[in-house]
Amino acid sequence: MENWWENAIVYQIYPRSYQDTNGDGVGDLPGIIERLDYLAWLGITAIWISPCYPSPMADFGYDVSDYKDIHPMFGTLADMERLIEEAHKRDLKVILDFVPNHSSHQHPWFIESRSSRDNPKRDWYYWRDPAPDGGPPNNWLAHFGGGSAWELDEKTGQYYLHLFLPEQPDLNWRNPEVQEAMLDVMRFWFDKGIDGFRVDVSYKVMKDPDYRDNPPNPDWKPGMNPFARLIQKYSENQPDNHEFNRWLRQVADEYEDKVLIGEIYLDIPELVTHYGQGDEFHLPFNFHLIRCEWDAAVISDLIEKYEAALPEGAWPNWVLGNHDQHRFATRTGVAQSGVGMMLLLTLRGTPTMYYGEEIGMEDGDIPLDRLVDPAEINAPGLGLGRDPERTPMQWDRSPNAGFSLPDVTPWLPTANNYPLINVAEQQGLPDSMLSFTRQLITFRQQSQALLKGSYRSLEAGDDVVAFIRETENERVAVVLNLGYSPRSWKIPSDLNGEIILSTRMDKETEIFSRQLYLRRHEGVILR
Ligand code: NOJ
Ligand code: CA
Repeated sequence: MENWWENAIVYQIYPRSYQDTNGDGVGDLPGIIERLDYLAWLGITAIWISPCYPSPMADFGYDVSDYKDIHPMFGTLADMERLIEEAHKRDLKVILDFVPNHSSHQHPWFIESRSSRDNPKRDWYYWRDPAPDGGPPNNWLAHFGGGSAWELDEKTGQYYLHLFLPEQPDLNWRNPEVQEAMLDVMRFWFDKGIDGFRVDVSYKVMKDPDYRDNPPNPDWKPGMNPFARLIQKYSENQPDNHEFNRWLRQVADEYEDKVLIGEIYLDIPELVTHYGQGDEFHLPFNFHLIRCEWDAAVISDLIEKYEAALPEGAWPNWVLGNHDQHRFATRTGVAQSGVGMMLLLTLRGTPTMYYGEEIGMEDGDIPLDRLVDPAEINAPGLGLGRDPERTPMQWDRSPNAGFSLPDVTPWLPTANNYPLINVAEQQGLPDSMLSFTRQLITFRQQSQALLKGSYRSLEAGDDVVAFIRETENERVAVVLNLGYSPRSWKIPSDLNGEIILSTRMDKETEIFSRQLYLRRHEGVILR
């Protein structure tokens, strides 16, 4: 039987920024429901919604205080049920975010746990005695500022572990009661009909049982993320994390057709171990297009390495951007938007796109007095803040870009370029980024070569990435110019050289005596 997620195009929605319907400046579930027709029109097939659970919002929802409800800011449980139903009516799958590594410090479990040393929930979190000098139990560092990962609880005289903010205490998954309670959360949402989970920092859930000190990172220099001063040897990717992966997978397998996607920032050899023997993640997120230099040779090499590393039966996947990374169009320059999208949607495997990539949205400029992300506030000026990539979706040229009512101040300012870069404008232009993305999606979803075909790289000169995707009955070539200069490329003899689609959305791409002339920043699909 075919797995739906192998042919899927996943579209990430950051719910705070998609569509506000009640004028409080924050996106909500009714807003997502309103935009489902747009998403169906675009042609994506699954939405992943970042956390919309009750939360004090210290990390904008990644600090969950109730795993089985919806934050009133986003709507109600009934709204989520309606969203699932409305999405399914349009053949769109719904993937929610599961945040197992930590809860909010306001979660009733943690409030109990910190109340006394002998509380029955004490062991649900990691509590340790101070070091002999009274300091933290070991040298582990927390994300977002790079201070100690341990916070002293004055009242009970012990430290608790938080790999992220102090408002995000880590749950102790070695405790069977925690396992049971959290796996039950998965069943709660599967029973509501969702189609899968994206699992937050899945590779950090298990920790070294001896809490050994992490070694210093010899490559760290001032100006880099302070968190990276240490190599996370004992605080991530521990051997028994695979056991954790299997627990989750077993719950998913109690149901039919559910997908589990792991958020895993690891090098390729370690990353692919999170497929397990086909009994761990269906899709360990492959973030390497985000992490690598945007250079043709680097990318060709990356694709080869990833393809070669995949274990037997493992299905690949690719990602260009998400709510933690500067937007693709900003990282590479907006002129590469089409090339990036063509690469994402023609590589072998499931693509995940981030809202706004389909119109070439760029990072917004956030004035100092509007910064809200602790990643920026705790370590200012290093470019680590995530507010720029979380600005409101740009729907039209009205004030607030159609995200919210015109007189509302949205939670983050709308990017300045919205009067030009927006859905309404681009829907009316046959050669816009949006028209291109939609046409590319349409072609991909009916091309067996792109959906299921093999991958084979082709010789290409400077700045050019070229490869073949083929099945027995269909062969297409993808040729991408990542550079600022025109490039030519020799069409191999096993292609007839018919151009199916160009990022330029015109018929001007030239071919003379079997040489394809690519304009700067142009990508084409050929038959
Ligand atoms: C990864 C999420 O994508 C990020 O936004 C969040 O801050 C951390 N995990 C902590 O949950
Ligand atoms: Ca709202």
